[in-house]
Amino acid sequence: MTHEKFPTDTPAVVTCGLPYANGELHIGHLRTYVGGDIFSRALKRMGQQTAFVSGSDMHGTPVAVNAAEEGVSPEKFALRHHEQYKSTFPQFDIEFDNYGHTDDETNTTITQSIVTGLINEGYVYEKEIPVAYDPNADQWLPDRFVEGTCPYCGEHARGDECDEGCGRHLEPGEIETPVSTITDNKAEYRSRPHQFFAVSELQSYLSGFLDRLEGTANAQNQPREWVEGELQDWCITRDMDWGIDYPEDSDLVLYVWVDAPIEYVSSTMQYTDTVGSDTFDWEAAWRPDEDGDDGEIIHIIGRDIIQHHTVFWPAMLRAVGYTEPRAVMASGFITLEGKGFSTSRNRAVWADEYLDEGFDPDMLRYYLATNGGFQQDVDFSWAKFRERVNSELVNTVGNFAYRSLLFAAREYNGTPEASLSETVDTEIQSAVDRLREGVNAYSVRDIGTAAIRLAQFGNEYIQKHEPWKLDDENGQKAQVIRDCVQISKAIAVLLEPVAPSAASRLWDDINATGSVHTVQLEAAFDPPADQFEQPTELFEPIEAERVDELTAKLADRTTTESSTDSDSTSESTPTEESDSPAVESLLENQVDFDTFQSLDIRVGEIQQATPIEGADKLVKLQVDIGVETRQIVAGIRQLHEIDELPGTRIVVVANLEKTELFGVESDGMVLAAGEDADLLTTHGSALPGTKIK
Ligand code: MF3
Ligand code: ZN
Repeated sequence: MTHEKFPTDTPAVVTCGLPYANGELHIGHLRTYVGGDIFSRALKRMGQQTAFVSGSDMHGTPVAVNAAEEGVSPEKFALRHHEQYKSTFPQFDIEFDNYGHTDDETNTTITQSIVTGLINEGYVYEKEIPVAYDPNADQWLPDRFVEGTCPYCGEHARGDECDEGCGRHLEPGEIETPVSTITDNKAEYRSRPHQFFAVSELQSYLSGFLDRLEGTANAQNQPREWVEGELQDWCITRDMDWGIDYPEDSDLVLYVWVDAPIEYVSSTMQYTDTVGSDTFDWEAAWRPDEDGDDGEIIHIIGRDIIQHHTVFWPAMLRAVGYTEPRAVMASGFITLEGKGFSTSRNRAVWADEYLDEGFDPDMLRYYLATNGGFQQDVDFSWAKFRERVNSELVNTVGNFAYRSLLFAAREYNGTPEASLSETVDTEIQSAVDRLREGVNAYSVRDIGTAAIRLAQFGNEYIQKHEPWKLDDENGQKAQVIRDCVQISKAIAVLLEPVAPSAASRLWDDINATGSVHTVQLEAAFDPPADQFEQPTELFEPIEAERVDELTAKLADRTTTESSTDSDSTSESTPTEESDSPAVESLLENQVDFDTFQSLDIRVGEIQQATPIEGADKLVKLQVDIGVETRQIVAGIRQLHEIDELPGTRIVVVANLEKTELFGVESDGMVLAAGEDADLLTTHGSALPGTKIK
């Protein structure tokens, strides 16, 4: 990998975490795939040679347990889900260049050769370990066949991951008080030899790797404690039939987390097989040449599998001399109407359901990509979904394009003769730059909003110049419309990564040649076609009734479905993020300037501060607000010593309705940030009474 800015002249591989082939996809799962698709499309629009690959994760106990419940073979079970995923992704325009699966021939061959490489390099050793065993079922209990208590945090956990507590990967034998999930009986530990990958030998490599790693901050920071603490070796074999055989002992299969990421390589190889190495050479990406040149590997995953992608996987790649990942982008979790998804309780919006309801896939893509930063947790609600879609896609982008192109088609049958104005040229340039910077900052949200921001400018531009009032004699009207057609063209190009279908419709509306799915960002500046017909509306607004209907539907079935069966899918439930506090999502509704102006916000200076009997957090203040001194009760005791408050400059809302708190009158509000009541103040020396605008 390089650390050069994208686009580089080396090939890039963008991957998405492999979904376990064990259940139905819901819109929560789609967040990672939409993010990956947007990122890969943006790279391609920038001229970066890119392969976007993934596949279904067929092996391991997540599949075996569910298949057993259904009474079918894991192979049949997994293949069925694989086929389903494979056809669902394209319906959301998630267009992998190759989507394979871990049980196919390519992956079996490459996995065995990589593991043989690990063995030959001396990284694999055998060790006797305690393995959970169910004496009643007379069976070994790998991973999800056993549950118990996490030895690190004491929470209830699965055999190989502390899914309800600290999120750690657990090694066989680590879980305490093991219980068999097959018979619900107490399991026992029996000693048995297994194969280990000596990850600990790569400790200093991994620590340097984390320094180099790009992507989201959670993926860079979270693994530090594992890599810099006592790094454990990793058991890479399991007592199961379902999986890829360990090359030297066919009684054992490889742990699913060995062959799953190798599918990233296998899937790229299959892509090369399909398109030829002139179009994309998997080896140039995954195997450093004699000068050490290789490709840019970018992994896009959910944050629950950061450890696998920043510790075990790069260790494996290093040991066999493959390209190390350049970036890991780990998404936050997603909740539904404020609560976790639960597939067993049918508390989810299913991918198929979304489509069956007739919604445009672009709308969901846009919402998932831009409702929060990629690593932030986001909430899906039908109401918020409607608000964002209607205000940003329908009213901002759709309206701009429609009114500009309608005007152009009616008055000029297409693009009027005039050259692009400098202002608009500059504005398009900065929109294009924003998208490029979004890619280089690994910000799916910035990529997703680039077109919307340009459309915002477009609307202001039309509003300001009012072309309908302009005179055609001196070419002023033609000039404004010419500019607007160019903005529409640029919007189509910038919209392609996030809303590919709408981008394509817009592209056709302006009669542009070629496909918007293959052009590069520079096409935003190419002169638009002389002639085009009247446009169509890009997006259909979502009616308020639909929101009521869908919200009710969801609430309804959540209360009626049984909640007794345990949740057996691979979805992640939201847990507390340790390294960064949750940031509240943006309010969707905009207020106009007049509403803002109607607030009397001004600088104040605290004259006196006294405690209020019985109210720990409250303090009674006398505040000089320039025109008078006000009594305000404020909940600011947490961060502040009462004695230190007098003399402090603060910010006050002076025209808030009077109220009484703990029997004390309060006439105004002091502004403070967050739970700790961090007081707002001014940067310079604005005097008490100065209005804030
Ligand atoms: N199937 C795993 C999960 O859902 C992810 C595998 S990602 C890969 O948690 F790296 F192994 F490919
Ligand atoms: Zn734990």
